[in-house]
Amino acid sequence: MTDYPARSPELHIPQNTDKRQDNSSWLQVWQQGQTEGFHQTLVNPLLTRFWRSQNLRRHSRVLVPLCGKSLDMMWLAAQGHRVIGVELSPIAVKDFFEENSLKVKKTRQGNFMRWQSGSIVIWCGDFFSLRKRQLGCIDNVFDRASLTALPEEVRAIYVDQLRKLIGPNADVFLLTVEEIVKQSGQAAMAIDQEIMSLYAEHFEITLTHSQRSDDDFVSVNGDDCYTDDKVYQLNPLI
Ligand SMILES: C[S@@+](CC[C@H](N)C(=O)[O-])C[C@H]1O[C@@H](n2cnc3c(N)ncnc32)[C@H](O)[C@@H]1O
Repeated sequence: MTDYPARSPELHIPQNTDKRQDNSSWLQVWQQGQTEGFHQTLVNPLLTRFWRSQNLRRHSRVLVPLCGKSLDMMWLAAQGHRVIGVELSPIAVKDFFEENSLKVKKTRQGNFMRWQSGSIVIWCGDFFSLRKRQLGCIDNVFDRASLTALPEEVRAIYVDQLRKLIGPNADVFLLTVEEIVKQSGQAAMAIDQEIMSLYAEHFEITLTHSQRSDDDFVSVNGDDCYTDDKVYQLNPLI
């Protein structure tokens, strides 16, 4: 479970600038089974390595926004946490429960279908329509590849919505990938800078860990890039 999953040659999914269109492209990605660019077939090794620093109690409630069918949710549940995922695609949610052989109970709640099996709940619908009263208290957030899944102009709205859902006290454990252009050494997408500009007003941001994969490259806008996997810890400013 701790080996790195095979990296796909292209992590970013083509995005539409319109959010409704972006939602329909994501639904299409799942319909067409084009998930190899982001879905990991193993639990993320940076999660298993660094999660302990969160010092969470066993029954803490962990929000996993834009969760896909990530196996990371299985690992978090195995740590004794209550896991609350949010995912647009019913195919992803169905796959998650089926592929992990979990018996599920489904209930309709407004615009959402709520799927539950034991300590894992996934709210199936648009993250931006979810309300805090539906989720209840959240102690921590596990966020992998959510920001880059959204059009740039929606990312500030995402952070705003996330803050509304989690309240003022929850920490965020954030995993991102920064692509570094091999020739220039510059960041291709400036994800680090974006994290700073989006979160710094409300969170203290610590880069806990960064590691480069030298042995495989991705292509961004035609440039060969290294990839740096990064672990960020965001603690709310009081
Ligand atoms: C890059 S994938 C990351 C999935 C997951 N975090 C992982 O590590 O495998 C982004 C996911 O966000 C979902 N998504 C995109 N827009 C969404 C929205 N507005 N509300 C809920 N889920 C959304 C997509 O369907 C997709 O499964």
